[in-house]
Amino acid sequence: MTNLIERKKILSITAPVMTILLTACNTSVIAAAPAPAKNSMASALHKSHQQKIIKKVDSQLQNLMIKAQQPMKKLTDKTVSLNGKAYPALKPLGPVPVPKDNPITPEKVALGKTLFFDGRLGGDTSTPCSACHIAETGWDFPNDISMGYPGTTHWRNSQTIVNSAYYGKLFWAGSSKSLESQAKGAAKGAVAGNGENDLMEARLALVPEYVTAFNRVFGDTWPKVGNAWKAIATFERTLVQRDTPIDKYLLGDKNALTAEQLKGKALFEGKAQCITCHNGAMASDESFYNIGVPSNKRWQSESLPQITFRYEMYAKGSNEKLYRNAKADPGVYFRGKLAEMKGKFRTPSLRYTKYTAPYMHNGTIKTLADVVDFYDRGGVAKDGRTTGYPQNKSKLIKPLGLTKQEKKQLLAFLDAFSAERIALTRPTLPTYKPLFSEKELLEAKK
Ligand code: HEC
Ligand code: HEC
Repeated sequence: MTNLIERKKILSITAPVMTILLTACNTSVIAAAPAPAKNSMASALHKSHQQKIIKKVDSQLQNLMIKAQQPMKKLTDKTVSLNGKAYPALKPLGPVPVPKDNPITPEKVALGKTLFFDGRLGGDTSTPCSACHIAETGWDFPNDISMGYPGTTHWRNSQTIVNSAYYGKLFWAGSSKSLESQAKGAAKGAVAGNGENDLMEARLALVPEYVTAFNRVFGDTWPKVGNAWKAIATFERTLVQRDTPIDKYLLGDKNALTAEQLKGKALFEGKAQCITCHNGAMASDESFYNIGVPSNKRWQSESLPQITFRYEMYAKGSNEKLYRNAKADPGVYFRGKLAEMKGKFRTPSLRYTKYTAPYMHNGTIKTLADVVDFYDRGGVAKDGRTTGYPQNKSKLIKPLGLTKQEKKQLLAFLDAFSAERIALTRPTLPTYKPLFSEKELLEAKK
């Protein structure tokens, strides 16, 4: 009897608090707009059954996991000489790098995959990683600028997460050094996940399947949000592609590239000079350049992108003048605050680009053919616009004088950096443990 009275009290106090806790919109977001209510909690509370779903990796994921870690025969490092300088040659992608303190295990991969699709690791539960990294569109977001947390847009193009495990510098401005810290930044960042640690942990702790999985994988008695980032990073380490035509070719299969693609390769390493920046195994030197990409006009013409853009300036600590007047993304400038950094971005990989249109940090170039034209004009867009920081434009970017046929060959070669799409079945998300059974709720109402 006392037990029931106690429960009645708890129910009257806890239930409303818990409902707020579990569905609350995080208030640190910059512009108020109604969030799409996705009250999975309410319905989940009434479901008493629990599915056992985070067990082992399914066969698709198992396959990816094995392929990602397969050893590669040792190759000597080659270089390509161009304009009297030596650049690292293109190379096949080796086994995925794995940090010592976060080894890959099948259970961790399975947990990471589920968490990647679970909005409860975020503010109002509407923006899981998978909202902006959509498997079907290239594990990125198909618009020029990514969607953002409700009430915002993002301010940059969403990158693919395929092969991101190989980067030493993540994001367009290279501001994150590991997938673990990147996942944390994404889930907490105001225009992406907008989550708070205590809230996200509390949610995980109320899902019995997560409690069990975190315990088995990490030994947690209470799921630690830091381990959620480790699990997601581990899942991302399986989303890698090492069997593209270019990998096969560089590993010795001379038939893996067509005659046209071979001509494109010669252009890539010669007349078109792409190899000066897109080199090595990732076709990226991970350095920063301003190649002339013009600003996205939406930052001047539409209110939400404009607000988000200004907010990002403010959040990254720009001065008053830049905050008010900047018309183009200053890129890596925010990291060192040196004028010569304005408008520079990390060279992105060319792998998987077949599926990741539109292109560049602000998505202003629609197709790979347009990218080739852009370079051919010397880093100038179709409408004649170029970077908002012309003083920093790379000297390496100049008109190339490619013929129509050469452009086709180069384009055919770009295709060789991608194999089939990586497709995975969506996980079923585990449900919350009901706070009370149906019977208890009825009893308490008496
Ligand atoms: C609201 C949209 C959104 C959400 C949610 C989101 N991302 Fe992203 N993601 C982006 C955008 C946009 C970028 C590029 C941002 C930049 O460079 O400033 C990005 C970049 C990345 C990168 C860097 C790739 C590279 O080439 O450097 C990784 C990895 C990534 N996201 C993983 C995640 C993970 C993991 C989550 C969930 C914890 C997540 N993202 C949630 C939009 C989103
Ligand atoms: C000076 C270094 C440099 C050279 C030379 C260069 N690139 Fe790039 N490339 C970059 C940088 C930096 C970006 C990202 C720029 C941005 O978003 O503002 C980029 C972006 C791209 C993208 C878009 C990728 C994406 O995910 O959005 C493609 C495709 C590309 N380059 C292909 C090429 C080709 C083809 C050539 C040769 C014709 C070439 N690049 C020459 C540095 C270079």
